[in-house]
Amino acid sequence: MGLRKDFLWGGAVAANQVEGAWNVDGKGLSVADVATYKPKVDVKDYRKQVGVSSADIDAAIKATDTTDYPKRRGIDFYHRYPEDLALFNEMGFKTLRLSIAWTRIFPTGEETEPNQAGLAHYRELFAKMHDYQIEPIVTLSHYEMPLALATKYNGWADRHVIDLFVRFCQACFTAFKDDVKYWLTFNEIDSVTRHPFTSAGIIPDQTDNLLQTEYQAFHHQFVASALVTKACHEMIPGSQIGCMLTKLTDYPNSSDPRDVLASFNKNTMNYFPADVQVFGEYPALILNYFKEHDLDIEMTSEDLAILKANPVDFVSFSYYMSMVSSYDENNLTLTTGNTVVGGKNPHLPATEWGWTVDPVGLRISLLQLYDRYHKPLMIVENGMGAKDDLTADHHVHDDYRIKYFKAHFAEMIKAVDAGVDLLGYTSWAPIDLVSASTSQMSKRYGFIYVDEDDLGQGSLNRYKKDSFTWYQKVIATNGADLG
Ligand code: BG6
Repeated sequence: MGLRKDFLWGGAVAANQVEGAWNVDGKGLSVADVATYKPKVDVKDYRKQVGVSSADIDAAIKATDTTDYPKRRGIDFYHRYPEDLALFNEMGFKTLRLSIAWTRIFPTGEETEPNQAGLAHYRELFAKMHDYQIEPIVTLSHYEMPLALATKYNGWADRHVIDLFVRFCQACFTAFKDDVKYWLTFNEIDSVTRHPFTSAGIIPDQTDNLLQTEYQAFHHQFVASALVTKACHEMIPGSQIGCMLTKLTDYPNSSDPRDVLASFNKNTMNYFPADVQVFGEYPALILNYFKEHDLDIEMTSEDLAILKANPVDFVSFSYYMSMVSSYDENNLTLTTGNTVVGGKNPHLPATEWGWTVDPVGLRISLLQLYDRYHKPLMIVENGMGAKDDLTADHHVHDDYRIKYFKAHFAEMIKAVDAGVDLLGYTSWAPIDLVSASTSQMSKRYGFIYVDEDDLGQGSLNRYKKDSFTWYQKVIATNGADLG
């Protein structure tokens, strides 16, 4: 029993949160480059506060500074990746999940030929990874679509974007067919309704029916994902391509059947994008939801045939926390989670950002997903955002992080022992990076500390935290020694 011998241990990052170099080598502006630093997001009003307006975007386009736009500077992974890969190799990484920034390859999304400088960058990066025998897992879309597509088409609201995305993915498959075997289409595809701009380039003030626009964007992403899955299989024999879901595991607040029903409905809405990508069709309950909400989603019979013919090979997901639901919100104490606000489980502790810590929830999630989809699974994000203190002699004693991972790994291994086919685990994130939701650096996830503060001050030097050596041992023993 235990993990498979070729278990893919590693870490995960996204281009827009690490690379920086926002205007280097022909890169165009992406939706991430206009995301501002938001240290004081009110948990009760998450969706509104992470949203953007057309006026915000106009101001951001004029701004040349990076201070208010931390994703423009990232952690300078674009230039420092050799040093970072050496550290990942020292930890024993078998894999690194990263994304290819669409705007490095097609700066506005509409060029007909790819930007050679962008391709060259990733070619060199993958070559270095292979020197270390670190297998790339590449996300094709991780919250970084070209801004020009958001402003011109309102992002994925427009069907035309499907062709543009397929062109980008085909350029990646052509260029990297010998380098990359594992691909993911859309990061946390279910997030379109939680943060429509970041996830799908939808500018809310550009539509008078946001819900309709969001579900139309979902549909376009599903079709794009299926076409890209087809292209991947045809262009890279032996490749594996997966969907990626935010696993927002939800429990009933009590055994009151009304709470059970509320929780069932929450989970159903969370699963539905993966359902479409795995089963190749919309669940009946979702089609009914469209009717009940007067949503008229344009989908052709050709679209439905494309979905049916091209299911994904595996299911990947992020897991950070769980929540509880009730038929009556007054029964709940609200807290934040991964881009959601929901009921806090009184049995669980929480991080400084209010996300509950629920290792057993990871086991439950693995069992639920495997039972539902019968496909190999991959955990491609899991981790804990925390404030770290760098000591004068450059150490970080992050026993809280070790405790978090240790508990999650123990439950992950129990799920595998129960029969779940798990391909790998990539922590979010192996190195400190800019937060997706708040653009903070001080919300630290890494085994490696990056000397950079929220305003971009610092040497950018990298320092190993205590968790670095701990994770190194976990990988070396394939999870047998959790310390
Ligand atoms: C996931 C995203 O939702 O959560 C990552 O895929 C993100 O991009 C991670 O960084 C953690 O969220 P945050 O907001 O703390 O960075």
